[in-house]
Amino acid sequence: MKNSLKLSIVLLSIVLFSCSKKSEWQTAIASPDENVKIEFKLTENGKPTYLVAFKNKYIIKTSTFGSFDLKGMASLNENFEIINATSSNFNEVWEMPWGEQTEVENNYNELKIELQEKADLKRKLTIIFRVYDDGLGFRYEFPEQENLSEVIIIDENTQFKLTGNHMVWWSPGDWDIYEHLYNTSKFAEIDALSKANNPNLAQTYIPENAVNTPVTMKTNEGLYLSFHEASLVDYSDMTLKIDKENLSMSSELVGSEITGYKVKRTVPFHTPWRTLQIAEKAGDLIESLLIVNLNEPNKIGDVSWFKPTKYTGIWWEMHLGKSTWDMSAQQDMSSHTTQAKPHGKHGATTENAKAYIDFSANNNIGAVLVEGWNTGWEHWIGFEDREGVFDFVTPYSDYDLNEVVRYGKEKGVEIITHHETSAATETYEKQQDTAYALMQSLGIHTVKTGYVGKILPKGEYHHGQYMVNQYNNAVIKAAKYQVAINAHEPIKDTGLRRTYPNTISREGLRGQEFNAWASDGGNPPEHLPIIAFTRMVAGPIDYTPGIFDIKFDKWKKDNQVNTTIAQQLALYVVIYSPIQMAADLIENYERNPALQFIKDVGVDWIQTKVLNGEVGDFVTIARQEKGTENWFIGSVTDENARNLTISLDFLDPNINYEAIIYKDGQNAHWDKNPTSLKIEKLIVTQLSKLNLELAPGGGAAISLKKIEY
Ligand code: NOJ
Ligand code: CA
Repeated sequence: MKNSLKLSIVLLSIVLFSCSKKSEWQTAIASPDENVKIEFKLTENGKPTYLVAFKNKYIIKTSTFGSFDLKGMASLNENFEIINATSSNFNEVWEMPWGEQTEVENNYNELKIELQEKADLKRKLTIIFRVYDDGLGFRYEFPEQENLSEVIIIDENTQFKLTGNHMVWWSPGDWDIYEHLYNTSKFAEIDALSKANNPNLAQTYIPENAVNTPVTMKTNEGLYLSFHEASLVDYSDMTLKIDKENLSMSSELVGSEITGYKVKRTVPFHTPWRTLQIAEKAGDLIESLLIVNLNEPNKIGDVSWFKPTKYTGIWWEMHLGKSTWDMSAQQDMSSHTTQAKPHGKHGATTENAKAYIDFSANNNIGAVLVEGWNTGWEHWIGFEDREGVFDFVTPYSDYDLNEVVRYGKEKGVEIITHHETSAATETYEKQQDTAYALMQSLGIHTVKTGYVGKILPKGEYHHGQYMVNQYNNAVIKAAKYQVAINAHEPIKDTGLRRTYPNTISREGLRGQEFNAWASDGGNPPEHLPIIAFTRMVAGPIDYTPGIFDIKFDKWKKDNQVNTTIAQQLALYVVIYSPIQMAADLIENYERNPALQFIKDVGVDWIQTKVLNGEVGDFVTIARQEKGTENWFIGSVTDENARNLTISLDFLDPNINYEAIIYKDGQNAHWDKNPTSLKIEKLIVTQLSKLNLELAPGGGAAISLKKIEY
């Protein structure tokens, strides 16, 4: 029964894809390797629909395209005819200035279908597909036309009809923050409303049963699918609304309480790409660069002023409560500023910054992040009147900005500055030129931005069109001052780093900080084995790994990191980011032999290979460092112990490598014995195999250095 059903599906799809030839216009297109196929169809009443197949089996059933609900005019969704269809092939190799790999192949077949309404306003809509070996993207273009000059989109409603009740790794479709744990459930059990955990600062807003993207799935046949979007520009973030009964999702754009609509654009314009990555091995999702490929090439020119780097920072100590961002106690505006009596716990002092600079210089770490350096922190959180609190140029009186920068230069360590906007967007917009110009004059090339709290103006959400433009405009403006941005509470990553490489990294997930203070116990051991196949498919993550004092009982008895120390090391390789923090306090690194791995590990790569992995269970990634050609391997597991054998067949032949293996010690366990670590040295070659024994919540980190004779 099962087999005959399968056979008929295969036959049906063969018929389907050959029948398109009968129509006047080309309406189907396949990937260069012909495995991925998309078929466009107009229904009898002229509704545009599509189907997707992989290796001649459907993976998306007949789904309707965006049925655009527009304000002040009829929906744009039916009575269309095709007025033109063209196809083309594109093949290029482009170079990333820094990244998971140096060269990226961008090879796709494109089909462009131009539609026009048969009657009334005769409005036009074009749909463009790009089909790659690893998936596809499609987007809508609103071409220049007589009867449509501006569109106000109430909703987009692009449908994705699944072929089964897949297993799904999902986080709720929150309009205001991505900092949620991922859930694992069958599609029909997705319940974003009841499982919604309350993240920090009461920012959460989940209006319906929808998921955030990337959302990753596994079909019963063992195929992996990841839905996301690429090149999110002047549009709203797409969440996917869940229709459990029909096993279907449809795009639900993030809105605004102020405007009441989702997107406003002048014609001509196009939407972001709606993307689907397809993989037979889970690890291929991580290797896929479809999202960056669907973005436009570099628009800001030379970016050699930014260098990928590891960094330490005046940061974890605030999250632990050892020190504070503010210099004196929180206060209302009337008594605000630095005149209030200092409480003596301020973290960003000249002296403390110098200590981090010294430590970094001694340990092959290129930068120091300083948070809490500028005035305003007495009034940044929990206050409605946050506009004008920060100016991003005035240091606290105990922080000598010029002297810190000078000292850093002397030691070869850059300062990463910090702009916490407290989501007061109008202030930030006004201050950007001055703030970035100050950075440029000091030779500071990186800023970490933050958007904690409810957006001001009130009624906008972090993920709506207004904020999408805020984030993108900041990056574009910063580029003019040779400034790179690492945004926290950001908009999701949609591969814009290709166009604006100075968008180097971002948060957009529950980062390490949750382990310092979350009342729900922090990020569970399965967090990173899920993140690697979901959030990381979108792009670089500023997770801030490297906590050695796992339990930090000295500061907080009720919180801890829920991994072993070996997993903390492995994260430097598993997570990709061109800036990678060594987040712990200096005193926790000193005299710990595990620090050697952080010293050695690369941050910029020639190539990346995912050696094994299953979503939510484990993953092992090997990356080859640019410059040295050394390799680094990171492997992490969830709460289950695992034995993994990896082959080193990717190493250069005829070369011996010195392997230093940092692995979970005997009886290591994320909760009961997290700091048990064993370090082993051996000589390996391309023919070697390594057996990794990962403890519950554990990991392994390996450096493989060429031995020069
Ligand atoms: C939240 C960010 O994620 C965190 O890294 C930062 O320290 C605080 N906001 C303060 O800006
Ligand atoms: Ca955050």
